[in-house]
Amino acid sequence: MPSLNDIRSTFLNYFEKQGHAVVPSSPLVPRNDPTLMFVNSGMVQFKNLFTGIERRDYARATSAQKCVRAGGKHNDLDNVGYTARHHTFFEMLGNFSFGDYFKHEAIPFAWNLITGEFGIPKDRLYVTVYHTDDEAFEIWKKVGVPEDRIIRIATSDNFWQMGPTGPCGPCTEIFYDHGDHIWGGPPGSPEEDGDRFIEIWNIVFMQNEQFEDGSMVDLAMQSIDTGMGLERIGALLQGSHDNYDTDLFKSLIEASANVTGVDPYGDHNVHHRVIADHLRSTSFLIADGVMPSNDGRGYVLRRIMRRAMRHAHLLGAKDPVMYQLVPALVRQMGAAYPELGQAQGLITETLQAEETRFKQTLDRGLKLLDDEVSGLPEGGELPGAAAFKLYDTYGFPLDLTQDALRERGLGVDTDGFDAAMAEQKAKARAAWSGSGEAADATVWFDVAETGGTTDFLGYDTETAEGQITALVVDGVQGDVAEAGTTVQIALNQTPFYAESGGQVGDTGQIRTDTGTAEVTGTVKTADVFVHLAKVTKGNLTMGQAAVLEVSPTRRSAIRANHSATHLLHEALRGALGDHVAQRGSLNAPDRLRFDFSHGKALSADELAQVEAEVNAYIRQNGAVETRIMTPDDARALGAQALFGEKYGDEVRVVSMGTQAGSGKGTGGDTYSLELCGGTHVRQTGDIGAFVTLGDSASSAGVRRIEALTGQAAMDHLRAQDQVLSEVAGALKAQTQDVPARIKTLLDERKALTAEVAQLRRELAMSGGSQAAPEAEDVAGTPFLAQVLQGVTGKDLPALIDAQKQSLGSGAILLIAEADGKVAVAAGVTADKVDTVSAVDLVKAAVVELGGKGGGGRPDMAQGGAKDASNADAAIAAAKSVMGG
Ligand code: ALA
Repeated sequence: MPSLNDIRSTFLNYFEKQGHAVVPSSPLVPRNDPTLMFVNSGMVQFKNLFTGIERRDYARATSAQKCVRAGGKHNDLDNVGYTARHHTFFEMLGNFSFGDYFKHEAIPFAWNLITGEFGIPKDRLYVTVYHTDDEAFEIWKKVGVPEDRIIRIATSDNFWQMGPTGPCGPCTEIFYDHGDHIWGGPPGSPEEDGDRFIEIWNIVFMQNEQFEDGSMVDLAMQSIDTGMGLERIGALLQGSHDNYDTDLFKSLIEASANVTGVDPYGDHNVHHRVIADHLRSTSFLIADGVMPSNDGRGYVLRRIMRRAMRHAHLLGAKDPVMYQLVPALVRQMGAAYPELGQAQGLITETLQAEETRFKQTLDRGLKLLDDEVSGLPEGGELPGAAAFKLYDTYGFPLDLTQDALRERGLGVDTDGFDAAMAEQKAKARAAWSGSGEAADATVWFDVAETGGTTDFLGYDTETAEGQITALVVDGVQGDVAEAGTTVQIALNQTPFYAESGGQVGDTGQIRTDTGTAEVTGTVKTADVFVHLAKVTKGNLTMGQAAVLEVSPTRRSAIRANHSATHLLHEALRGALGDHVAQRGSLNAPDRLRFDFSHGKALSADELAQVEAEVNAYIRQNGAVETRIMTPDDARALGAQALFGEKYGDEVRVVSMGTQAGSGKGTGGDTYSLELCGGTHVRQTGDIGAFVTLGDSASSAGVRRIEALTGQAAMDHLRAQDQVLSEVAGALKAQTQDVPARIKTLLDERKALTAEVAQLRRELAMSGGSQAAPEAEDVAGTPFLAQVLQGVTGKDLPALIDAQKQSLGSGAILLIAEADGKVAVAAGVTADKVDTVSAVDLVKAAVVELGGKGGGGRPDMAQGGAKDASNADAAIAAAKSVMGG
């Protein structure tokens, strides 16, 4: 017996062999259709290929598409568990032709697969065609279906439309007869609503497009869209009439029985079925980025979760159940849908948190419900006010209350419920308008009430489609905004981030079939995302579908700065202490700013340490992870939260980095953990680089660090480098001739010193200010004696030589005084050395001058003394040595 996994593979392989590209399922949240809550058939991701707006490199495709039908137009939630074939989540197998083959190929493809590969007996099959479609009728005849089994259907049952607008066309359906033991008749018969004849495959001949104004045109090309529910064909091929009897469901039901300890079959089967079905839809929705909330898609998810939890409660489960079943689901479906395994942690945590929380009010709510209905007769209705109280105080979605009452044959006064809801909104509005918000914000409260709040898609995508829910010009709602108008635009969903938590709002473009607007900023009022825009081309009209494109490079830069702010926060706490708490922040595309409590300026070392640490975690390149939990759980985990900030029921917790020194991925060693609604990089490495611009005082006890990341950081470093190299260049120019200049100065000094000595000598020889020397005859020898001021002993030999030359023959005595020292020198020309010795002259003079000794040669001698005041006596002594 083939498993559901086998059947899926057989289908995809069959069409791959027929030249079809195997295309993965698109996420459950449609990116290309703002009117759809969830993807509900295989063709959704190909919508624009049918209309010709988009082209891909294949003209044939096949897929197994995840679908959710809960909330919105197709809502099967209420029936799930009670019937054989209703699901909130199912897989649609399909083959598609985009202007390639048409009816002549599509019909035999389907027929050969089900009667050949799947081996379904032909005599169990019936087909329907649109009543005017003779061509399809003939083709069925040709493949071998007897005429009496080809049924013409005139109703919309055989004209398929994806929604009020979009591609559509007549269809042909294949039915399987489960046998006369089940009540029911073939399609078109009065008993067709019975369960005997079951549609297994729908083949749509896509050839028309429906527009909003009701007109329908022929598409330029003829295409094929088909859909076969895997669970249905699986039941059939496994010999059952009931989708929940398939291998996949049985394993989930058994897992539920194991966890709850309650027999999987018998009376409790309905609860296990609900749990099995809802486990699939909730897990896949969470894997595709939907988180439980009180609005939009998140509320549908919450409703499904809580419905399952009530059924777990009915099984008597004391502890949360759903989260324990996730491994069983991943075992069954993780190979075909890898996203399930990747998100296993997130799915488990989200389910457990929601179950734990809802458990706190579930018992009391059910008790209230019991009390309220105890006196009601069979078929009676729970008063609307009570249903509203269950909703408002105990977290019971209306359909959960209805589900609970259904088992007792009771209903709910839904009008009364709606009235109670409206009254509460009116009160909230009155309280809000008195809260001092800007007067023009009132209009957004109206928009929130009539058009709904905005679903933010921008955590996962920067491009999406949305439906315009308001156009506000000068504070007044209008229907059209023409080119040149400054307009505020609201849509049911958007990828544009609205300014909050320090992160600036996104900019970008909004385009519709009729016009374009440039978005210069996005803000949020009353949970409506307000796109501040100017219409630059054509016009925009209320209700139009629009393509929304966030400026991607700007958003990337903002993301990098926001993630870097988290790393900076943690690095500051590490460097300065746990008193560091965020006091404000700005995450703009060009820079980040972080204000934090700290009493004094950071030292250069502290700043360098912080910068280095942030960069180390950037290089670590760990995944940035986001989880949703209660504020209390987040705080218990150690998440950084803003003190005094009011948080809702759930908070997003953003974590990044694994603490240095710990084994990577060990969980408890997360580096940064913060409550944050902003957008972040996928991996810290995406930040690129981090450079601080310094720290300054923001206010008393609050410091401010500004910093740059990515390209801006690189540009800054390069600019700094440029400045440094300019300064260095100037310095170099000024200093490069220093050695040469020093040499010049030294040379100059040397020359000057020589010049000074020369001048001194000249001065001395010329007598300077002293009396000009004149030789006298002493005992037949010419004798010249002179007292020189400001001349040192070093200069004397040269002076003696000079005097010898000018004297020609004779003896010379020089007494020099400089710097408190007295030097004596004597010289005797060669012809007189036999007559008189210079040494004797010096010795005689030195004694008179208070000195001692002296020496040299007979022609030249020197000595030192203390006092020149006895110069005359010294000269006289020298003369007497000469015999004078
Ligand atoms: N799109 C078609 C359907 O969902 C095949 O039934």
